[in-house]
Amino acid sequence: MDNLIIEGGRPLEGTVKISGAKNAVLPIMAAALLTEEPCRITGVPDLSDVVFMAKILRSLGAEVQFEDSTLTIHAKNIKCVGNYDLIRKMRGSICIMGPLLGRLREARVSMPGGCIIGARPVDLHLKGMRALGAKLVIDEGYISAETDQLKGCRIFLGGRAGPTVLGTANLMMAAVLAEGTTVIESAACEPEIVDLADFLKGLGAEITGAGSPTITINGVTKLHGTDHQVIPDRIEAATYVICAAATESNVRIIGARPDHMHAVLDKLQECGANITQEGTELVCNGGGELNPVDITTMPYSGFPTDVQAQFMALMTLIPGISIITERIFESRFMHVSELGRLGANIAIEGPSAIVKGGTGLRGAPVMASDLRASAALVIAGLAAGGSTRISRVYHLDRGYEKMDQKLRALGAKIHRVAE
Ligand code: EPU
Repeated sequence: MDNLIIEGGRPLEGTVKISGAKNAVLPIMAAALLTEEPCRITGVPDLSDVVFMAKILRSLGAEVQFEDSTLTIHAKNIKCVGNYDLIRKMRGSICIMGPLLGRLREARVSMPGGCIIGARPVDLHLKGMRALGAKLVIDEGYISAETDQLKGCRIFLGGRAGPTVLGTANLMMAAVLAEGTTVIESAACEPEIVDLADFLKGLGAEITGAGSPTITINGVTKLHGTDHQVIPDRIEAATYVICAAATESNVRIIGARPDHMHAVLDKLQECGANITQEGTELVCNGGGELNPVDITTMPYSGFPTDVQAQFMALMTLIPGISIITERIFESRFMHVSELGRLGANIAIEGPSAIVKGGTGLRGAPVMASDLRASAALVIAGLAAGGSTRISRVYHLDRGYEKMDQKLRALGAKIHRVAE
């Protein structure tokens, strides 16, 4: 297992290019199972989650090649059950259920458990598949689903915390090959859902309304191969903007979609961070005094839960009290105690974290607990004086393409060592 060693307390300078979006490419990879023709997906980030999803598709019989940011997936002959252990280990793999049911009318996937950020139930995925007419049995850790023919339906998919992103994706992928029209109400509006809809339309699917709470899908009988370019990763871009603000750096961020980042950019502006937009480029000029702010995570277009931990790292540096309320995943505060090791003063009160900022961070050994928590520790480590060692960096490699290399190119003193 690798560790990252960071010598912090120095500003960064230069340009960083944003990679393709992890949370867009994973469901798109699953959607490639819908056709027996090859699909070519470009702008794909080299992440361990992508490599893992490729293994899952291969275990279902698909041919998958991944070279130079391009994935070629050819699901000519596939079966409805893949490698149980692979599927069990990756939560995102639940979204192979929709395409398998749509194409083979049968799917067998493992029931995902909770994870470090919360309980993460899949009841809404199952509700959606049942509404389309699938019969489901949950037994020995598997969800087995079958149908004679999926039939279009009108379904309200909202849950306790609002819409579900992968639940919406799963249902869309099943519905494209269902008979008749499906209307998903309270659908997730995330840009990754729009990207999936664009990919599905490239396959020949008929979808309208993606990006709004009502998505309408007219089922078709067959889909064909396509080429698709994945959208840039708005969470990665937000992470670098926050990193620039935290380290008082001058950084230019290229290849992002600022129009997908309004909530984060608005909060940074409220803090007083100097960020300007030049076309699709974001220019961060560090320095100036920052003010405390309050944040509540929400479904898109609200403030993303996937940026909560990184913003908390910034808040620890701003004198005064900032409050983060987490409304999507109840226990997504594992980074709080690790930020505490670096000298942060954060108290958790129910779903809120109260950050008393400006106490000064000092390097220390810390442990990454999940993907976005790892990014928060990198930001805090870069801002802290002295040396920070972050263990369990494999969490970071799941979702940030070459983050240590990108930061080194900006002048950061960060290197990777095997434990
Ligand atoms: N929920 C239910 N029932 C369900 C599904 C979800 O109650 O059947 C609840 C969840 O417990 C949560 C809320 O609905 O409270 C929203 O969860 P959602 O289903 O939207 O999450 P997800 O689709 O499983 C994706 C991303 C996450 C991101 C969330 C929220 C992927 C692969 N994962 O998860 O990304 O945090 O949407 O935006 O797209 C990450 O990248 O670090 C990450 C965790």
